[in-house]
Amino acid sequence: MHVVIINGSPRVKQYSNTDKILKKFTEGLTENGTTFEQYEVSDRKQWDSIRGAYNNNKNILIAIPLYVENIPGLLLEFLETLAPKNDGTKLSFILQGGFAEGSQLRCGEAYLEILAKELGCEYGGTLVKGDNFSIRFTKDETRERITSRYREMGREFAAQGNFKSEACRKFTGPETFPLKIRIMVGMVFATVARKSFKKIAAGLGCTKPLGYRPYK
Ligand SMILES: Cc1cc2nc3c(=O)[nH]c(=O)nc-3n(C[C@H](O)[C@H](O)[C@H](O)COP(=O)(O)O)c2cc1C
Repeated sequence: MHVVIINGSPRVKQYSNTDKILKKFTEGLTENGTTFEQYEVSDRKQWDSIRGAYNNNKNILIAIPLYVENIPGLLLEFLETLAPKNDGTKLSFILQGGFAEGSQLRCGEAYLEILAKELGCEYGGTLVKGDNFSIRFTKDETRERITSRYREMGREFAAQGNFKSEACRKFTGPETFPLKIRIMVGMVFATVARKSFKKIAAGLGCTKPLGYRPYK
C-alpha cells in the first residue's frame, strides 16, 4: 500500500504538532512495507505537487489540527482547488486538537465524512484525538510519551486500510470528563495553566496581557 499524506496545518512543518504526530504515525505505518509521501499545506509552493499526488493516487490521508472548532482556513482554501475524483480513491483523516475531550472534535469529524463524499472518494474514517496542545512545547520523553501513541495507530492503518476499527475508536479517549474532573480542570486553568500560558506567550514575543481586548 502507498499513502499520500497531507499535513493540513497552517503552521510551518518545523513548528507543527501534526508533523510530530505524523512522524510517529508513519513509523508504525511503514513497519511492514507500506510506503508514503508527505506534503505540507502550510507551504503554498507545494500545492501543485499535492494536487498532482491527490489526482494520481488512490489512498489519501489528510491530517488536520482543529482550529477554533473547525478545520484550518488555509486547508479549506486548498481543498477548494481539488476536483471530485469518483475513481475509487479512499480518503481518510487524522483529526487532532488541543483540548482533551473527544466530543469537541465530533462536529469536525462529521464534516470530514461529508467532505470525502463531496470529493467523490470512499470515506476511510477519521482518527480522532485531542490533548495534543503541548507537543510543540515539550521535549524528549514528554514529547515521546504524547506522540508515540500514534505509532500503534500507524500499524493499525497499515493493517486495516482505514480508521474504522475498535482500536481506532478507543484511541480517542474520554468523550467528556466527569464533573469532578471538569471542576478540577477549571481550577487548573484559572491558576497554574494561566501562569504557564502567560509564560509561553511572553516566550513567543507577546507583550500585551492575554485578556487584552483592544476592539471592545
Ligand atoms: C488559533 C488556534 C485555534 C485553536 N482552536 C482549537 C480548538 O478549537 N479546539 C482544540 O481542541 N484545539 C484548538 N487549538 C489547538 C490545536 O488544535 C493544537 O495545538 C494542534 O495540536 C495544533 O497542531 P499544528 O501545530 O499542527 O497546527 C487551536 C490552536 C490555535 C493556534
